Amino acid sequence: MNNWNIHEAVEYYKGQDAPQNQFALVELLKEAQEHNGGVLTDCLIEDIAALLNIKVTFLNAVIKRYPSLKTAQAPHRLEVCGGKNCAANGSAALLKHIRGAYGAESGGISTKGGFSFKICGCLKHCGKGPNIKWDGEIYNAATPELIKKLAGR
Ligand code: FES
Repeated sequence: MNNWNIHEAVEYYKGQDAPQNQFALVELLKEAQEHNGGVLTDCLIEDIAALLNIKVTFLNAVIKRYPSLKTAQAPHRLEVCGGKNCAANGSAALLKHIRGAYGAESGGISTKGGFSFKICGCLKHCGKGPNIKWDGEIYNAATPELIKKLAGR
């Protein structure tokens, strides 16, 4: 796309001390994502890892830590509040559904649902739980139906 070139981008960020400088590494990933339709494909991740001489598993671990980075397998991010007020409002049933219907474990991804999944801390909407965050946006009184609607599957 455009005149973006992965080799030039990698060279540039190597000059900024990537991958040792994680900030530069993340900037490189963001740029790659931007020039590839908004997602980091497996192929792209493998190419970047090879050019930087680092492991794909390391790169994937970095990607997981930054909500703005999205993989093709899991372009969305789902976070479910693990706080005690949301637990009182039924988050356990929701978590059970996410595990059962999408095969997702906290800290992992669901290829079936197209999202990465994490149990997070209190989202400060305690009275309206169970609360979730989908791509950074908070939804109250979340249900399995809501997740199905958001995931589109
Ligand atoms: S306990 Fe879930 S938002 Fe506070």
